[in-house]
Amino acid sequence: MAASKSCLITPSILSCDLAHLQDEVNSVEPYADWLQVDVMDGHFVPNLSFGAPVIRHLTTKLPLDIHLMVENPEDRLEEFLALKAVHITFHAEATDHATREALVAAIHDGGATAGIALNPATPVAAIDDILKKIDLVLIMSVEPGFGGQEFLHDVLSKVRELRKRFPALMIQMDGGIITETAKCCREAGANNLVAGSAIFGAKNRRKAIDSLRGI
Ligand code: DX5
Repeated sequence: MAASKSCLITPSILSCDLAHLQDEVNSVEPYADWLQVDVMDGHFVPNLSFGAPVIRHLTTKLPLDIHLMVENPEDRLEEFLALKAVHITFHAEATDHATREALVAAIHDGGATAGIALNPATPVAAIDDILKKIDLVLIMSVEPGFGGQEFLHDVLSKVRELRKRFPALMIQMDGGIITETAKCCREAGANNLVAGSAIFGAKNRRKAIDSLRGI
């Protein structure tokens, strides 16, 4: 996949200086496409992050992409739909078929697009039943819970499989994405890359974001 603007770059605020959250978001706003909010409950993943009360105070033009790394994601929808989240992703591992159908319908009814995330060990087949109804698949390239981890290359086969079956699907990747691994992701067919430390760990945010686009 050629390096170009066609690949969306989504900074994840988990890795930013949370004591200066608004300034950090302002620093990426002119260059990024979406902004990802990593909601962690300390049960589905071993880390606790933040929720709607914090995000409510944030002002940004960037579309809010809510990544629910939580058990019972259905309990979190209302608060984020009320914040006008543009996109909400929940985890396949936190839901069964019936819950996924209901969640996707509720997210769409709330005016947002719906995504399902797959942890590294979870095959695409786990969500075959609902793939035609969702707007995005998030392929985790680390075990969810923390920023700054190493990219797991094995997951790229899932990206290639999805891209072959669904040419128009938004395929997002998240975890360990830096300039080098971003290239592998784009070439495998991903068109939305989430990065935390590669962007918020960089002094020049524009340069960091452009390097993930391959520019
Ligand atoms: C991990 C989070 C990722 C993480 C990415 O569970 O979902 O969004 O913040 O951080 P980096 O880009 O540093 O791997």
